Amino acid sequence: MKAHWLEGEGGAIDPQTLIDNDVLYQQIDTHPARYRTPVDELKTTRGYVQEDIVELNPQTPDLDAICAKFIGEHFHDDDEVRFVLEGEGIFDIRSRDDRYMRVQVKKGDLIVVPAKRHHRFMLTETKSIRCVRLFKDQSGWVPHYRG
Ligand SMILES: [Fe+2]
Repeated sequence: MKAHWLEGEGGAIDPQTLIDNDVLYQQIDTHPARYRTPVDELKTTRGYVQEDIVELNPQTPDLDAICAKFIGEHFHDDDEVRFVLEGEGIFDIRSRDDRYMRVQVKKGDLIVVPAKRHHRFMLTETKSIRCVRLFKDQSGWVPHYRG
C-alpha cells in the first residue's frame, strides 16, 4: 500500500491516518490456505455475509466501460471491501474533511472504504487486478454518484 494526499502539498499518508479517516487497511497473506482465517474473522466481526472474486485484465470484455463506472466519484450504502490477490489498483477516497487520499493497493492489501464515503477507483497501467470482495448485501453496493 502506498498513499498520499492528492491535493495541496501531496504528503504521504500512513496507515494510522487511513484509520483516523475510517478506512480500514490490513495486509494478509494471499496464499489460499492462509487468507481464509483472517478473511472469515473480518466477515464475522463486521457482518459481511457474501463473498466473491472479481478480476479485471486487458482481456476482460468491455474493460473500458467497466472502468468508466468506477472512475466517477460515488459512494455506496455499505462498505466497499477489497482484498487484492493479484495485480494492483488505485482508490481515491475522501477524508473526513473531504480531501482525496490516493491509496494504491497491491497483492496482499485489504482495504475497506467506509459506507457513505465518496471515492473512485481506477486500474494502474497494468490494467490488471484480482480481488476478493465482501458484502453485507449486494444491494448495498449500488453506486450513488456525486454531483
Ligand atoms: Fe465504489
